Amino acid sequence: MRAEELPNRLIRSKITTAMLIHSASQLLTLQGGPQRGHALGNLGLLEDGAVLVRDGKILAVGSTRELLAAYPNEARLDASGCAVLPGFVDPHTHVIWAGERAAEFEMKMGGAKYLEILAAGGGILSTVRKTRLASLETLVDETRPRLRSMFAHGTTSAEAKSGYGLQTETEIRMLEALLRLDAEGPLELAPTFLGAHAIPPEYQNDPQGYTDLICQAMLPAVKAWWASQKLTANRPLPFVDVFCETGAFDLVQSRQILTKAKELGFPLKLHADEFDNLGGASLAAELDAVSADHLVRTSEADIAALARSDTVAVSLPCTPFGLAEKDYTPAQKILATDGLLALATDCNPGTAWCESMQFVIALACRNLKLTPAQAIAAATINAAHAIRRADRIGSIEPGKQADLLVLAVSDYRQLGYRFGTNLVKQVIKHGKVYKVESGYSLQEVDHER
Ligand code: NIG
Ligand code: FE
Repeated sequence: MRAEELPNRLIRSKITTAMLIHSASQLLTLQGGPQRGHALGNLGLLEDGAVLVRDGKILAVGSTRELLAAYPNEARLDASGCAVLPGFVDPHTHVIWAGERAAEFEMKMGGAKYLEILAAGGGILSTVRKTRLASLETLVDETRPRLRSMFAHGTTSAEAKSGYGLQTETEIRMLEALLRLDAEGPLELAPTFLGAHAIPPEYQNDPQGYTDLICQAMLPAVKAWWASQKLTANRPLPFVDVFCETGAFDLVQSRQILTKAKELGFPLKLHADEFDNLGGASLAAELDAVSADHLVRTSEADIAALARSDTVAVSLPCTPFGLAEKDYTPAQKILATDGLLALATDCNPGTAWCESMQFVIALACRNLKLTPAQAIAAATINAAHAIRRADRIGSIEPGKQADLLVLAVSDYRQLGYRFGTNLVKQVIKHGKVYKVESGYSLQEVDHER
């Protein structure tokens, strides 16, 4: 097969069924499963490490000397001078939408408040208007470049939410577009139904009516549609998420929707404590949700409830950064109580249009006071656990998917330390190698005459 050019300066190399990646200055295996509390940051680091990949899976992990001796005839990828780690997992994105909101960004930087803009029919609702008008093809075409950019920055799997339809038809169109983009690859997607993202204009004065509609009509429709699709064969149901927030869904409504979703067999997620504390994090823990996300205004009691559960606390530091707010997730308290912490971008057109988990790591080091090692573990193995895929991805261990990153730098701590540039040199997905063209190769062009 010929080398193939992809957008965002990604070039896929020849496909080989087997490959020995060797001489990595540092191989971060992240082996041993999700990392709770102060166990976070155990990188399982091997110096001069090697990985044997075959048929898209990891077959062996060890020292370069051992693996070169055991597998002398395999194709080789020389990673000398490079740190190698698992592909990033981004467990919270709203990456599918139509249009953009640059004018609102300008308003917010001038002092307008996010929830006030939403209450005035802007914010999420402005993106809803554009997304309702977008065809399936338009949604796929507008979202694809964002996914390519995420992939070029090292994200090999991501969660992606609907939530800009707020009516069954458009919500299902968003899910269908996500399934198509997932099938197209290379980035793998875990879809989430977020019909409970905002109160749609039709129900502006009747939030309870919309809550009932979600429970009685939308959730059963999504379940039936999912079961009817070819692309969902052998796939578990999508996650169901709710924006539990002032001006969106209150705690009682969030409980009603999540309880119904659980009865129908959907795994759960919850937006909790982004702007106000309504008790969402404790609700997520009580209902055994897979994750509770945002967690800026989270109380000590909520943190304790999370710590007693298997619900992953997903922090989204791009969101306060994107809104120029000063408070971030109390990550140190979550770790001190032995909670499970993961990181995500929250990529969305309103609060955080960020496609890079490298930037998330840089923010988490500074604002959550994580070490680079803790941030990397929160962005790989724990993030995989936050989408219930830690059995397949998030670490470099025999039997797992061959989703790996080769960095252009030899010391993993350059992640976090440096920001605003892409340190990923190659992305390996299911054993296929994609070279990321350096951002500084310039070509001089003639002026048009
Ligand atoms: O996670 N909080 C709700 N949803 C997004 C924002 C979505 C938007 O503004 O379009 C978030 O921040
Ligand atoms: Fe979100």
